[in-house]
Amino acid sequence: MRVAPSILASDFSRLGEEVRAVTEAGADFIHVDVMDGHFVPNITVGPSVVRAIRSCSALPFDVHLMISPVDPYVEAFAEAGSDTLTAHPEAGPHLHRTIQLIKRRGARAGVSLNPSTPVEAVRPVLDEVDLVLVMSVNPGFGGQTFLRGALKKIAAIREMIDAGDRDIDLAVDGGITAETAPLVVDAGADMLVAGTAIFQGGPEKYRENIQTLRESVR
Ligand code: DX5
Ligand code: ZN
Repeated sequence: MRVAPSILASDFSRLGEEVRAVTEAGADFIHVDVMDGHFVPNITVGPSVVRAIRSCSALPFDVHLMISPVDPYVEAFAEAGSDTLTAHPEAGPHLHRTIQLIKRRGARAGVSLNPSTPVEAVRPVLDEVDLVLVMSVNPGFGGQTFLRGALKKIAAIREMIDAGDRDIDLAVDGGITAETAPLVVDAGADMLVAGTAIFQGGPEKYRENIQTLRESVR
């Protein structure tokens, strides 16, 4: 099980140290939540912050773009050191073009589905993507309650992925804890994005928090 700590829940006044600490604690990815105050009702970080923390970890950066439009910023986020760039279908008029753009910039391409976005939104582009990110909260804030409607969607996307012959990550984002992680893994997820559950308690707890998540799904 791959674990991607969302740095949204970290101490932004010590962001570089937080990225280092969670890397040393055994994370598999660094999940960066990019919000524009337009596509979602919150504002976080831009490409310059991704670039600034890039040297703090050798882990792949999984950059979740909750911005609209998204295409004009793909190049900057790719150049800043993003390994995966994930966009929402609603963020622009041409999802396929966005995915092409991400791949042309040398990053892996992800698609993220909001709680109200049907799984059918990903089917036409499934052959093009490297990651599907199912939102189990409405995007915008950390610390929200897991929405169980995500489970059916994860199962449906797991079927779609298994029916094909490509390796596609199936990640879940929002309200992931040791209680909800087993549910999403049973449904077919193979990557857990978690903010609050990992960053609670401060750096000396990160290893234990990641371990607790991993053990909950064994
Ligand atoms: C929500 C973000 C998530 C968020 C998860 O819009 O995409 O990555 O940080 O935080 P928790 O794990 O606290 O729900
Ligand atoms: Zn996210």
